[in-house]
Amino acid sequence: MSRVHGKKAVITGAARGIGRACAQMLARHGAQVALADVDTGGAEAAAEAINAETDGRAHAVALDVTDAAQWEHALGTAHEHMGGLNILVNNAGICITGNVEELDIDDWQRTLDVDLNSVFYGCRAALPLMRDHAPGSIVNISSISGLIAGHNLAAYNAAKAGVWLVTKSIALHAARKAYNIRANSIHPTFIDTDMVDEVVTGLDPAEARVKLARQVPLGRIGTVDDVAYAVLYLASDESQFMTGSELKLDGGISAM
Ligand SMILES: NC(=O)c1ccc[n+]([C@@H]2O[C@H](COP(=O)([O-])OP(=O)(O)OC[C@H]3O[C@@H](n4cnc5c(N)ncnc54)[C@H](O)[C@@H]3O)[C@@H](O)[C@H]2O)c1
Repeated sequence: MSRVHGKKAVITGAARGIGRACAQMLARHGAQVALADVDTGGAEAAAEAINAETDGRAHAVALDVTDAAQWEHALGTAHEHMGGLNILVNNAGICITGNVEELDIDDWQRTLDVDLNSVFYGCRAALPLMRDHAPGSIVNISSISGLIAGHNLAAYNAAKAGVWLVTKSIALHAARKAYNIRANSIHPTFIDTDMVDEVVTGLDPAEARVKLARQVPLGRIGTVDDVAYAVLYLASDESQFMTGSELKLDGGISAM
């Protein structure tokens, strides 16, 4: 259990769901983890739970990822607390549904702020800190919706597609500068979290999961650990020749 032993990681949106599972996975495999979230109570509770099983490898950091100034402060605090920064997982996100005609302009803007602008702010603030502690790895959680569109996902499709390509730009920049920092994106389909319940309305949770699973060739939706294992691989030095890539975790959807 030491695939990321001694590494120092910041994970955004880590109060619950995929982010929390990623923090737990990285800590179990030897990393120190900073759980950054706008839900500070949730992040503290998650850090406490991780500490109970990993001898104090986790701490919580307050961060609204839409605020560039808060990024500087949160990363500085985490860097100081852990004595460095090697891994950034940009996971915080929201999904507001709506087609191009019906989506509120505020919801379009909010989605781009939380899901896309945050990734730019985070990588921009992290690179100077990570450079001093290379090798480093940035993992951006996009979505299969960043590669395949849906009629009622105008803003989410746009934001997640932006994450996909800006990750490649960041990867090429870091390679050109010989920073020894890699950047890759992950593209999950439906993962069993609260987000699914917030997006699929009008069905009971079990019914919603059965309905979604029918769209997946493997016959089920994903678990948070399906994503966390991919993050562990990309965060570790095992993936040291992988940068600017996209990893699809979609149970075969995009193969159809
Ligand atoms: N669940 C899915 O089906 C699915 C599929 C593909 C991609 N994703 C992506 O995975 C990521 C995590 O999704 P999840 O299902 O765990 O969602 P979730 O709603 O369960 O958790 C999201 C977390 O992000 C935090 N967050 C939201 N806005 C924030 C902000 N402004 N600043 C800081 N933190 C903020 C929330 O407090 C929460 O802890 C998101 O980027 C999402 O788009 C999810």
